[in-house]
Amino acid sequence: MRLLVTGGAGFIGANFVQLTVAERPDTTVTVLDALTYAGNRASLDPVADRIDFVHGDIADLDLVDELVSGVDAVVHFAAESHNDNSLAEPWPFVQTNIVGTYSLLQAVRRHDVRYHHVSTDEVYGDLAPQDPPFSEHTAYNPSSPYSATKAASDMLVRAWVRSFGLRATLSNCSNNYGPYQHVEKFIPRQITNLIEGVRPRLYGAGHQIRDWIHVEDHNRAVWDVLDRGRIGRTYLIGADSELDNRTVVELLLAEFGREPDDFDHVTDRAGHDQRYAIDAGPLREELGWAPRYADFRAGLSATVAWYREHESWWRPVKAATERAYTDAGERTISLP
Ligand code: NAD
Ligand code: DAU
Repeated sequence: MRLLVTGGAGFIGANFVQLTVAERPDTTVTVLDALTYAGNRASLDPVADRIDFVHGDIADLDLVDELVSGVDAVVHFAAESHNDNSLAEPWPFVQTNIVGTYSLLQAVRRHDVRYHHVSTDEVYGDLAPQDPPFSEHTAYNPSSPYSATKAASDMLVRAWVRSFGLRATLSNCSNNYGPYQHVEKFIPRQITNLIEGVRPRLYGAGHQIRDWIHVEDHNRAVWDVLDRGRIGRTYLIGADSELDNRTVVELLLAEFGREPDDFDHVTDRAGHDQRYAIDAGPLREELGWAPRYADFRAGLSATVAWYREHESWWRPVKAATERAYTDAGERTISLP
């Protein structure tokens, strides 16, 4: 199979490309990535001589058309992915997540190429504590500019399936963690803070709940959907690992031998989603998927070890990332 992977220099995309090269010798991989602040060529170093890398924008219609014409399938990871950035400046999210997806859809339509669309559980908004988890039937109700643009891109895919018979599948996954995640995100931010001897930074009281999944489990599910998923279908991906943010910080503090209250509360995110949770029943039952990292604590320990061992990967962007948070107005707060 000839595969085009968009966003392959980002967190999930780079893990996907590495997994594919390691386990699918019959697949040739071309990566299309704009190398925004979130993309890093070094994340593809272990497979650099086994793939083709194209530095370009998914919204470039001519480039995308040419690349799509030469492959059998496209897996679309490229996106602006960080909620906090979308609150500070929404435009790149509209451009990449909506216009960029449009550009890919037109190309796969023209060349009748199989397409898989990687999306997020955030399109469903958030849940109250007693609500059942999100399912594929939950109504879309996005909260942030990021999740609204991802929801819009999902809608484009569904319309192209219905109106033009596109051979597409979608997946909506919960919060990923693991190697190569940018230090702007919650878990790697706190791990790298702790390595530097800085206290973790918890938004508000830290009662918000996320449903964590290891990135490798997400990517194995994407392959299951590509291999055996039903065209037009949406699959929710999650590993039944709901934890509140404070608990995650306490687990990380324990990893570093620090006291459980050795963190700072900082200003909360505007419109902060309270809880995400996924019902991955159809993925498990129809496609036989199951997470290999079912124990979040073990996966978290392995992730801490990875960041300890790969300081040269994250160090160049750490200071600027923290400065951006400060410039955006983040400050410590005391709670009653
Ligand atoms: P990321 O921010 O780490 O990586 C995004 C990649 O896309 C980067 O390499 C960047 O350079 C590239 N990119 C951005 N704009 C581009 C453009 N216009 N043209 C080409 N390349 C461009 O993101 P991630 O966390 O790896 O997320 C990947 C996908 O998975 C996204 O679609 C995201 O919505 C989705 N997702 C993420 C999570 C999560 O927890 N991180 C969970 C569910 C779904
Ligand atoms: O649910 C899937 C989504 O998960 C993906 O679609 C997004 O691309 C991905 O970024 C992630 O979104 P979140 O906003 O949930 O992830 P983030 O890592 O930014 O934050 C996780 C939680 O931790 C959230 O409740 C905010 C909180 N947080 C975050 C940071 C960066 C903190 O308490 N402190 C922090 O320093």
